[in-house]
Amino acid sequence: MEGDMKKKNNNNSQKHLLSLVIFSVPLLMLASTSLAQAAALDYKEALSKSLLYFEAQRSGRLPYDQRVSWRGHSGLTDGLEQGVDLVGGYYDAGDNVKFGLPMAFTITMLSWSVAEYGGDIAAAGELKHALEAIKWGTDYFIKAHTQPNVLWAQVGDGDTDHSCWQRPEDMTTSRQAYKIDEDHPGSEVAAETAAAMAAASVVFKETNAHYSHVLLHHAQQLFEFGDKHRGKYDDNVEVAKGYYPSTSGYGDELLWAALWLHRATGDEEYLKYAVENADELNGTSWAISEFSWDIKYAGVQILASKVLMDKERHRLQENQVNVLEQYRSKAEHYLCSCLNMNSGDENVPRTPAGLLFVRQWNNMQYVAGAAFLLAVFSDYLAGASNAQALHCPRGSVGARELLSVAKSQADYVLGANPSGVSYLVGYGDRFPRRVHHRAASSASHKVQKSFIGCAQGYDEWYGRRSGNPNVLVGAVVGGPDEKDEFEDDRGRYVQTEACTYNTAPIVGVFARLMKKVDGEDGRGIIERKFSS
Ligand SMILES: *[C@@H]1O[C@H](CO)[C@@H](O)[C@H](O)[C@H]1NC(C)=O
Repeated sequence: MEGDMKKKNNNNSQKHLLSLVIFSVPLLMLASTSLAQAAALDYKEALSKSLLYFEAQRSGRLPYDQRVSWRGHSGLTDGLEQGVDLVGGYYDAGDNVKFGLPMAFTITMLSWSVAEYGGDIAAAGELKHALEAIKWGTDYFIKAHTQPNVLWAQVGDGDTDHSCWQRPEDMTTSRQAYKIDEDHPGSEVAAETAAAMAAASVVFKETNAHYSHVLLHHAQQLFEFGDKHRGKYDDNVEVAKGYYPSTSGYGDELLWAALWLHRATGDEEYLKYAVENADELNGTSWAISEFSWDIKYAGVQILASKVLMDKERHRLQENQVNVLEQYRSKAEHYLCSCLNMNSGDENVPRTPAGLLFVRQWNNMQYVAGAAFLLAVFSDYLAGASNAQALHCPRGSVGARELLSVAKSQADYVLGANPSGVSYLVGYGDRFPRRVHHRAASSASHKVQKSFIGCAQGYDEWYGRRSGNPNVLVGAVVGGPDEKDEFEDDRGRYVQTEACTYNTAPIVGVFARLMKKVDGEDGRGIIERKFSS
């Protein structure tokens, strides 16, 4: 993620004003355009493309069956200076830094997608690719977790990386690696990596029991490390601060890891942790309308709700039920805020066409996360033994309606919007051509074999008016502004940069939507509810 605003406004930006392409269509056309497109949306194609994206983000030595062929090996000496093998993992976005916290969140969300909708993904013939995308991350976490209480949390740094516009294959920027340990703790990144490995262990349980077991072992150690040695990670990995600072602290990650470990093992001890620490770690007190790589309370609360909804399976004690009900009430607050069913100003704002709008910079990450949580909760409701509804201050909502709203958001991403633009790159005819991405915007190393230097990349590739030479298929970019408008300009990274944690949750949404969605398609609901 491009974090440092000052640095980003480099001297090229003037030139880019010329290259702005503004997609906008008169509002009157909205209904017909959207509906026509909505009917034709192909979620299976969207799913396949979204999984392909993770291959474009790979760092390390690429395998023989790499499908994104414009990428090559990179970062092959990562960790060497520190005497540790940190080759592999993912670049987070349009740059070449490996940031541990968002990488782990990406893997947690991909794993959650597969844990819920693996059958649908398999039916689409994409399970192999989904598992590979997860394993590319977890293989790296195994390497990065070198001792029970040591985790390498970042390779490279945003400042030096952003001063260059270089293909990963050509990197000349710092590849310094940064770790957390007992004296320099980082509970967010330790616990999120634990959550990712626990969630992945659920996914691999049937197909690769040994690997699943290895992941679980790391997850348990990392959770214990994060819990016993508490500290805010960006106090100790200071290079992360300007890019991925933790604003919600580590309470959410610790609870998240505990609930994922509970799901992976069925072990009471983890549920006990989530119940007993609910208050101290703010799990039952924070009601928020944002779910992201930083703030995952809504995810925690929904996982806790699931335990409550499956209560026949868990033999809960009365005090546990009480606390889980508090979690559920906060989960409902989040979901109701996405449905515009809370009262007053406790709802997520929306664009005129109904897109959830949390903030200007990379808004699609919140949309993707919300659509996923709505879809999952909808299925939890539908699967609960006694038919249940979501109770909001402005009324009750059934499973179908929740899913319809998730669908409306996914459909918007795929082009059912006033601009008729798909924000999933490579899907449909109209999608962003100038994605803010070093590798995609430069000639492939296979086409131009000669080295492209740090400043040379800015001069020769970043500033071009033409579209990127490589299409970053499956990437979900930052998306439109609060008026549904989008400028396809490489310099506007707020809108045109894509991140791994935008695509990861929407993988699950596309998988879910391949099955028929009964009833109305969300749009009616959006117009009815969101206009009031
Ligand atoms: C819980 O929230 C309060 C503020 O509401 C904050 O001061 C505290 O640090 C939080 N605790 C954790 C563990 O995040």
